Amino acid sequence: MTARERIAGNVAGYVDDRTGAAKWMKKNLQKVFPDHWSFLLGEICLYSFIILLLSGTFLTFWFDPSMREVVYEGAYEPLQGVKMSAAYASALEISFEVRGGLLMRQIHHWAALIFMVGIVVHLLRVYFTGAFRKPREFNWIIGVGLLTLGIVEGFLGYSLPDDLLSGTGIRIAEAIIQAIPVVGSYLSYFAFGGAFPGLAFIPRIYIVHVLILPGIFLALITVHLMLVWYQKHTQFPGPGRTEKNVVGYPLMPVYMAKAGGFFFIVFGVTAFLGAVASINPIWLYGPYNPGQISAGSQPDWYMGWLDGLVRMAPPIETYLFGYTISWNILIPGLILPGIMFTGLALYPFIESWITGDKREHHLLDRPRNAPNRTAIGAMALTFTLVSLINGGNDLIATHFDLTINQMMWFSRIGVIVLPPIAFIVTKRICLSLQRADRDLVLHGRETGRLVRMPNGEFVEVHEPISAEKAWLLTSHEQIAPLELPEVDESGVRRPAALRNKIRNRLSRAHAVAVPKATETERRELEGHH
Ligand code: HEM
Repeated sequence: MTARERIAGNVAGYVDDRTGAAKWMKKNLQKVFPDHWSFLLGEICLYSFIILLLSGTFLTFWFDPSMREVVYEGAYEPLQGVKMSAAYASALEISFEVRGGLLMRQIHHWAALIFMVGIVVHLLRVYFTGAFRKPREFNWIIGVGLLTLGIVEGFLGYSLPDDLLSGTGIRIAEAIIQAIPVVGSYLSYFAFGGAFPGLAFIPRIYIVHVLILPGIFLALITVHLMLVWYQKHTQFPGPGRTEKNVVGYPLMPVYMAKAGGFFFIVFGVTAFLGAVASINPIWLYGPYNPGQISAGSQPDWYMGWLDGLVRMAPPIETYLFGYTISWNILIPGLILPGIMFTGLALYPFIESWITGDKREHHLLDRPRNAPNRTAIGAMALTFTLVSLINGGNDLIATHFDLTINQMMWFSRIGVIVLPPIAFIVTKRICLSLQRADRDLVLHGRETGRLVRMPNGEFVEVHEPISAEKAWLLTSHEQIAPLELPEVDESGVRRPAALRNKIRNRLSRAHAVAVPKATETERRELEGHH
């Protein structure tokens, strides 16, 4: 034993005698994780969150969250002598005078964008593979909470510099708060500490942005990861993988090395983007002034769909008992997002109600084998995408030589018509893919080799697929639809007949599938070949 090993051993022994950590570490460091590239998406969220904490802490050393009016005398000539808030002036200082400041600002902003992409794509992987099913429903709900908080946190972040773009965004937030019936204007006065914009808002959202939300994030991410740990990770079906085991590599050393390396890849990509790609050049927008707005104002992408919904809303208002109800903001700004997020959070429960499936699931689905779920996802994505496109209606109109009216009507009609079309098309594609799988199992792979038979007929030679592949394509379960009869055995109508009828219908729609190839069918065809 070398001297170094002896010292390390002594230190480890000293710590273990006092904490008993060795047993715990041994058990947990050997924990096995399954391997699939899509399981890295959650890690991208985690690493960009760490980058956000580090770069954000750097920015707090110079950022001055104050609405105090100052006259700019800094290094950026075009704004010299302009009156602005201390917040905006300090953001300019970070950009032009603090060493590495602009790089840090850009890394922070890019990390926020990547964080949100990571969250959304991670959510889609969890959704389309059915990883949210029992026992992971709580983790799904925590995830929806993280998504919501991420949107709010990002919005508050780019509102802080108090430039013309961020002020415009806050103005929209004020309009949405005011649209809440009856209490809206009181809530707005409460949030802004008086009339808009007031002096209180920036200091308030600063505390929320740097302290309250990051604290909640830390707590929720910890619980999220503890649940992944405790419930174990799901896995795709494969040889030896069952609902009761996890096949993969141990945390130490395989995943420690992989995760460490991956952290640096995420950090490297973010730093590269921060170094070469300009993001949120606030000096070009100028300080916020409620009387001005710049052309082509765009929110960050994760807010774009909400902005797009508000932009396409028809001007409907009702005057009731002395109150104005602005449906044009209330519906796209609050009611629709409320329905979308509630639906998202409740989806695991809705699906298990429809299928009647209350069992645990640790093996993932291929999206094509759950056509209804996949189609619902495609429908929701299409709705969000049309809204997002309309969030950039002004820029799209100028770039593609269209009018704003054309864009507006495209999105108003598109947001209603395209999602159901996406549903039908996706469901059909899934069923076609199931049919292709069935053909593959029964008739083998098309080789592209044509053979002429003695009778002159041309046939293509098919090659049987491996037994492993055939097993993979047929190992999934096809759940039968629920049968909840309207009357019981003695002919008496069951209670909640209507609810049962709806459930039957939904369950039937959910269970539509191309019957997978059975072993008997395979054998019969083998004899035939
Ligand atoms: C701050 C944001 C988030 C972080 C840091 C995060 C992190 C992670 C990590 C590292 C994993 C394990 C690896 C993987 O499956 O990718 C995981 C799993 C999981 N996440 Fe997230 N996540 C976040 C947001 C979300 C969201 C928005 C949802 C869904 C609404 C979600 C739902 C889940 C579920 C259900 C699992 C278990 C998946 C399984 O076992 O297959 N997470 N998360």
